[in-house]
Amino acid sequence: MIQRNIVKAKTFINDSVSRVRGTDASSVKSSNQSLPGWIVFAKEVIRNPKTMGTACESSPRLAKAIADFISVDNKSGCVVELGSGTGRVTEALLQHGIAPENLISVELSTAFADFLKHKFPQVRIVNGDAFHLTDLLGQDSNRVNTIVCGLPFRTLPHMQVHGIVKQIDDLISNNNGIYIQFTYDLSGSSPFLPHHFKRIDHKIIWRNIPPARINVYRSEK
Ligand SMILES: C[S@@+](CC[C@H](N)C(=O)[O-])C[C@H]1O[C@@H](n2cnc3c(N)ncnc32)[C@H](O)[C@@H]1O
Repeated sequence: MIQRNIVKAKTFINDSVSRVRGTDASSVKSSNQSLPGWIVFAKEVIRNPKTMGTACESSPRLAKAIADFISVDNKSGCVVELGSGTGRVTEALLQHGIAPENLISVELSTAFADFLKHKFPQVRIVNGDAFHLTDLLGQDSNRVNTIVCGLPFRTLPHMQVHGIVKQIDDLISNNNGIYIQFTYDLSGSSPFLPHHFKRIDHKIIWRNIPPARINVYRSEK
């Protein structure tokens, strides 16, 4: 039954790709750059459901609410976004006033990273695993003042989540920054975060599929 639904979804997406491109999808090996974000997103959901954690891109309302938590006063600090997908949150961060040179996106999927590079040529897009965050950021790790995380912690392996959280903790604690996490768990629990992460704000966004909760933390280490 599940198998049949996956096949149906693949057929639907391939048909949509063909319609958008006006060509036979099976013969198309080129990039996703000419496709709408939702199709690129859906293709990744089918390919890697566990690293995606959801079937839909974030709504513009959720993306804007996340960006609204960030002060744009600090001109030299940088914002790191983990798991940018097709860039819904990235776009909102730029519209909010974060300068492109102060925004870094870390994305595991090569298909998404290529899509993002094309869509936001001025933003540093890093195609890599947030498990190696500090190494991936290099020199920029010293100026991180905000981390926005859209990673699906509930579906990733626990070992990997703990490794990623350790990196986030080091960066946020060393730079006295804030950590913004959005999640589909509306309860407000944060089982993977260390105790010295104190929640300083939160908001629930109902107009998202599924509804999401934004939690904002500061390290009290
Ligand atoms: C729930 S989607 C969020 C996409 C996008 N931020 C949005 O709001 O529409 C999760 C994203 O995290 C990425 N991801 C999953 N594991 C990752 C990892 N270890 N390092 C970096 N990105 C990862 C996935 O490829 C996917 O783009």
